[in-house]
Amino acid sequence: MNREIEIVAGLLEKQDIGLAKEEILANIEIPPERAMGDYAFPCFKLAKTMRKSPVAIAGDLAQSLTVPMPFHKVEAAGPYVNFFVDRSYRVRNLLQAVLEKDAYGSADMGRGQTVIVEFSSTNIAKPFHIGHLRSTVIGNALRNIYKKLGFKTIAINHLGDYGTQFGMMIAAYKKWGDMDTIRRDPIPAMLDLYVRYNKEAEADPAYKEEARYWFKELEEGNPEAVQLWQTFKDLSLKEFSRVYDLLGIQFDSWNGESFYSDKMDAVIQKLEEKNLLELSDGARIVDLKDENMPPALIQKSDGSTLYITRDLAAAIYRKNTYDFDKNLYVVGAPQALHFQQLFAVLRKMGHAWADDCEHIPFGHIGMEEGAMSTRHGKVIFLEEVLHKAIDKTAEIIDARNPSLQDKETVAQQVGIGAVIFQELFNNRIKDYTFQWDRTLSFEGETGPYVQYTHARACSILARAEGAEIPEDVTPLTENEEAYRLIQAMDEYPDAILDAMQKNEPYLLTRQILEIAKQFNKFYNTTPILRAEGKARAAYLSLVDACRVILKDGLSVLGIEAPQKM
Ligand code: ARG
Repeated sequence: MNREIEIVAGLLEKQDIGLAKEEILANIEIPPERAMGDYAFPCFKLAKTMRKSPVAIAGDLAQSLTVPMPFHKVEAAGPYVNFFVDRSYRVRNLLQAVLEKDAYGSADMGRGQTVIVEFSSTNIAKPFHIGHLRSTVIGNALRNIYKKLGFKTIAINHLGDYGTQFGMMIAAYKKWGDMDTIRRDPIPAMLDLYVRYNKEAEADPAYKEEARYWFKELEEGNPEAVQLWQTFKDLSLKEFSRVYDLLGIQFDSWNGESFYSDKMDAVIQKLEEKNLLELSDGARIVDLKDENMPPALIQKSDGSTLYITRDLAAAIYRKNTYDFDKNLYVVGAPQALHFQQLFAVLRKMGHAWADDCEHIPFGHIGMEEGAMSTRHGKVIFLEEVLHKAIDKTAEIIDARNPSLQDKETVAQQVGIGAVIFQELFNNRIKDYTFQWDRTLSFEGETGPYVQYTHARACSILARAEGAEIPEDVTPLTENEEAYRLIQAMDEYPDAILDAMQKNEPYLLTRQILEIAKQFNKFYNTTPILRAEGKARAAYLSLVDACRVILKDGLSVLGIEAPQKM
């Protein structure tokens, strides 16, 4: 939202004209000529309710309004109230904020506060699939957004490295496994074992029993079970780290589910003390009827623990270790009930900070190629997707710019950037289908388009003699395209703030895209390098500021910005 329009609407709202801010916003116009101001508010609609002519209403409003900077004048013209922005003031302010200070868009509102962002949380011995990409990319962007606003952030990868499925893996390995095969190509080999075991277990309950037995052994520290589990984990993490490297993502903690194996007794004891546990078919549950939820299953009849038990231990551990102000879980929407139950049990335990925990859900991602399900082994590996994106980008670069230096690096930056941008383009909860052509295109609403715009700005600057904030900024206030670009750049800090408050990185993605679009409009209408004197100086300074913001915005989203492409 244009900040100036916001200000205008806010001023009018205070005048008691009987319209809600939304209605006022919808009525504000941009006059066809600048001589009539930057924004205009027509008063026709008010005539009925205020029982005065539109002209009289406009006159009265203009009289009683005083406008703050960046506005410098308000005037009635017939039935309109016209608002005039001091464009020079605004342009100068923006250029200084971007080019003279560091880190435009940063703030220290988060100072002294700690935010945990839990994301990615892949499952050991299973593929790092395209569904995990969402959590990984959204979580990383959120972490960067909080950081930019001065929060201390802790990025946690809550690995799925524990639970009955490891009983299954161990049992399967003992029946059919071969370590050489696994070492050669770990994830597919482990997946084969898992899929095969599941199939058998569907037909024969004895298999399920055996899996439970081995998980119990693992929980109790049986050395054979622990060693196999550790091997599966080490091999998986080695595979996953290639993906994290490709994405350029790092974590502060890799404490996953198994980390809490020795911390659950204390949780169960606490639940007992608080009289929260009930027996149900031999299992121990926390009843959540009063919250209109099914019970939380804490401990099975054989004594083994569950996903939620580990999450209880994890939340408490995080509070004790980091004393967080916010604890965010970036996890798909299907787990919404799990998190509601988790937070409800924490509250029942007397942890008021449960209110600082939040599930950040996201919708489903589909592939053009078709559906996936780990249990049946039909799955698309994220690493393959990323390499395909890089290869396809390399082809595009070869066609567009065959002499580009360091083509491989650029193809990687652009291919990966395209995938990340696409991920962060819509609000989280929206389901979407991954489409190759749309994602990788250099035109349209894509990562490569924004990266290309940044590279274009770099190339203009490389051909110029340097850019400094000009004495005279009128070339930027008089060139409408330049001024629209300034407006979009001016909204950048608000977009970051908004993205943080709603935990929605797409709000930032859209703002960066808007800046890139406005830049290209400016570029296409204004001969920058052919301009002379003060116009040239002013344009170059604008290009430089735009370059800085695009690079910064992309980096907050987790995307690189090559100088040439
Ligand atoms: N490993 C889980 C999965 O892939 C996600 C873990 C979510 N985090 C949590 N604290 N429960 O579905």
